[in-house]
Amino acid sequence: MAIRDILLYPEHSDVLTTECDPVETVDDEVRQLVDDLAETMYDAPGIGLAAPQIGVTKRVTVIDVSDPEQPGGDLHVLINPEILETSGTITWEEGCLSFPGLYQEVERSENVTVRATDRDGERYELEAEGILAVAIQHEVDHLDGILFLERMSRLKRRLARKDYKKIRARMAEETNEDVEA
Ligand code: NI
Repeated sequence: MAIRDILLYPEHSDVLTTECDPVETVDDEVRQLVDDLAETMYDAPGIGLAAPQIGVTKRVTVIDVSDPEQPGGDLHVLINPEILETSGTITWEEGCLSFPGLYQEVERSENVTVRATDRDGERYELEAEGILAVAIQHEVDHLDGILFLERMSRLKRRLARKDYKKIRARMAEETNEDVEA
């Protein structure tokens, strides 16, 4: 297992907007990818991470929305996920590890049924609601090269881009100060 670098927007928007390839066989390489994704997600920390965010354009993502204070966690591994059904709407303030510091309200389906393959290569179906449903939709979007900015209204997207520029500029300043100090 290894903690991998998380690719940020906009520097890596080419990879982050690539439609990822399906996994053909869950072999050691794919299991390694799953383990690296999980370790990187928990280290960040975040509640979901998709393979393109560490530079691998394969349809693999991990999600854990459980309380970080709770030991054990509840890791979901989704290889080749397909959303089969959706219902309802929910507005959630989302963040994304590729957009550090940016949190924006996004409207999604409140309930989803997803079919995916797990780390052992077994197909399964999962019915999710609330934050888990939101996370599944956010991560499946990553595998289609769709970033959460694109799920905002035009007005919100424009404001979010401005906010994010400011956040990154401030982060860059802080990093420079650290270097000088
Ligand atoms: Ni994300």
